[in-house]
Parts: sequence; structure tokens; C-alpha cells
Amino acid sequence: MGAGRSHDPHAGLVFVRGCGGTLWDIDGKAYLDFICGYSAVNLGHAHPRLLAAARTQLSQLAFCTGASHPWRSELEKKVAQLVDGPSLESNETKSKVWLSSTGARAVEIAWKIAFANRPGKMMRFHLSYHGRSLATAHISDTGSSDALRHQVGVKASMEGQDLHCVIPFPMCGRQCDGKCEDCDASIDVARHWLDCHSEDTSAMILEPAIGARGYYFASGAYFRRLVKLLRSYGVQVISDEIQMGLGRLGSMIASIDDGWKPDFVVLGKSLGGGITPISAVIGDRDRMDKLPQGFESETFAANPLACRVALEAISVLNDESLMASVSRRGNLFRETLRGAISAGCRVDGRGFATVIDLSGLSNQGDRSDDASRIAWDWVCHAQGQGLLVHLTGVERNRIAIIPPLNMEDAALQQAIEILSSFWKVK
Ligand SMILES: Cc1ncc(COP(=O)(O)O)c(C=O)c1O
Repeated sequence: MGAGRSHDPHAGLVFVRGCGGTLWDIDGKAYLDFICGYSAVNLGHAHPRLLAAARTQLSQLAFCTGASHPWRSELEKKVAQLVDGPSLESNETKSKVWLSSTGARAVEIAWKIAFANRPGKMMRFHLSYHGRSLATAHISDTGSSDALRHQVGVKASMEGQDLHCVIPFPMCGRQCDGKCEDCDASIDVARHWLDCHSEDTSAMILEPAIGARGYYFASGAYFRRLVKLLRSYGVQVISDEIQMGLGRLGSMIASIDDGWKPDFVVLGKSLGGGITPISAVIGDRDRMDKLPQGFESETFAANPLACRVALEAISVLNDESLMASVSRRGNLFRETLRGAISAGCRVDGRGFATVIDLSGLSNQGDRSDDASRIAWDWVCHAQGQGLLVHLTGVERNRIAIIPPLNMEDAALQQAIEILSSFWKVK
């Protein structure tokens, strides 16, 4: 027996097939997949080009631990170019790439490299999520896993060492000008920490939008302010784009598109096209070279199958001109959704990452646990109508809508109709 996920409205669903933006359960019922593996399936299920690449590679060479192979070097170059821009002149990229297999491992590697360059503590956002390995759980808002960390003694062994500092993530949303009270308060906490600890702070790890912990968005202006501040103290910046990079926010690298350049970018999920786990850390050559040879290894990292699928995934993301279409269609989707659901719900987002925040319902006389109950019922209603959306947020009163980047317009419209029908039957 596997361990259950009884906190999830989708608990009990058993899926047996996926194609494009649709999943089928064991009884043959179809669902529009507006969760899409939290961005692991950004190109939809069973994309024909990804399947063809995987099949070819499987029959050629699937695995060879540690060794170099052409798909690995080709992928390292392509991933570096996502940050450097395509360099037609030479094969020498400005950045270097470290390939790994999961998101949490890649975050740990970025952390180690940052530490090798500048030892010290880590800064992170409240509500950030960087994985559930023992190290990444320590810099994540993992809620219930605090208890687990206590149990295994990790927290106890780290106690007193004050390994990291937590900066509040502003709750003002994507449209803010970056100068509101929330943004100022967040910057003030960061400045205060840096005034006292700049000498022994290594890096800040950021998500360009909070993913797993509730789909919260802040403006580019806020991020630029924060990154400028960190730089002025010599603190390195790690952008964890495992969930929000590679198209989710309408750009391949969300931080660069937003006008702030991190020292390290971490990618995962979507890089493997929903077929093979693969992740990457990208940073300047000089910084990346600081991690000594032989310091890291991982059995399945950068295997030929994963590299070949990742190469094809990047190529599809570029070829299908998805980025511009994701930004434009995402904005239109949110505009239409706003007009179709209760006025007490706030809709926010960027690209194809959209959230409905129900907390405003409690300001209208409902209690906040009512907002959570309504959110639960709404997700269950959508599921009944064949639409999968994700219940999220600390108080579980937010609904994240995460379609594949190539989801057809008709499916987007259908999702809006299903979501709005909840308010008609209520
Ligand atoms: C921003 C972010 N970082 C790290 C991770 C961890 O990735 P993985 O589950 O592949 O270890 C996730 C997973 O959801 C994530 O969203």
C-alpha cells in the first residue's frame, strides 16, 4: 500500500492515460489537466516530438553513468544559452551548467557552489519552497515537515547555528509598482539583516513567483529593488525557476525577463518534458568552477535519455513560439476569468500561472475557514465537471490554475465555464 494524500481533493483519482492537456482515469472519464505536474508537463502529455526523441534515444543509448556523451555536451550548451543568449560566433558560453536529476538536488548543488564562492548563511522568502530533501527542507516553508525534521534531529543539530534568514514575501500581487507598504516592509527586513550580517551571508535564494506554497506574485519592480540591495552587500542571488522557469511565466528564464540577473539559475520539472527527471544549475564559469572536481556525483544525473528529451523539450519551447503566446493568452484568460466568477475572489498571475484568492470572501462577512471550505468545494466541483485545478495556500483558500503552455483556446474557455458554473449552482 502506498501512503495516501488525503488532504488533497483529488485523492482517490487513478489516472491511466494522458494526451496533450487531457488525462483519463481508470473508469475512462476525461479531465482537463490544469495542474500539469506543477509545470513538469508544460508541453502536455505524450508530446509527439518528445516521444519520438525518447524512443530514438532508448534504442540507441539510455544510460552510461558519469561518462561524457554528445547529448550531454549539446544540452549543457543549449541550457547555458538560455541565460547567455544564443552565441553564433563561438562554442564558448559565458555560463557553465551543472546537470542533476531532481529539483531538490539542483538547489543543493547551487547552494554548495554559492557557499564555495562566499561562505555564509542563506536568505530566503517566507513561503518559499525549494524541495523536501533534508537540506532543502531547511530553507523551505514545509509546514508539517517541521515536525519530521525535529524527529530526525536535523533541526536540533542545526539549532543555534542560525543558518538562514527569512524575508517576508510581499502580498501585494503582480500589478504593484514595487513601492507599497508590503514591498517596503519586505525590503526593510532584508536591509536590516544585511546591515548586521552581510559579512557572513552567502546568498539569497528566490522564486520569481511563490509556487508550491500558494502561487503568490510580486512585481518586477520589487524584485529589482531586492536584488539591487543584495548586490550592494555582495550577497549572491540564486533564482529557483524549477517551477516558474521554462515558460510558465511566459519566458524561458523568468528573472532575466523581469530585468534582474541572478548569479545562479536553477531549472527542473519542465526540462524533462514530463518524461524524465532532469534539472540544471547555471552560473558564470568562474563561480561554477569554484566547486572542486569530484565534489559532487549522482548516478542518474545527465543520462543520455534525459539529456536527449531535455534537448527536444527546449527545442519545442522555442520552435512553437510559446513564450509570447503564453503571456498574451494568460492575460486574456485572467481577464475573462475575473468577469466570470464571484467579485469577492481576486485573480492574479503571470503567463500561464494563475491563482484565484478566496481570502477576500472572509472580508465580506464569511470566516476564513469558510473561504477554505468554499475553495475545497470549488475544486471538487471542477473535478466533477472534468477539470483538475490545484487547491493551495497556507490557509488552503487559493486555487492555482496551471495548464500546459500549449493548451488550446477552446480548453481555456471550457475551464472558465466550469469554474464559473460553481457560482451558478451554489
Ligand atoms: C520552486 C521549486 N524548487 C524546488 C522544487 C523541488 O523539486 P523536486 O520535487 O524535483 O525535488 C520544487 C518542486 O515543486 C519547486 O517548485
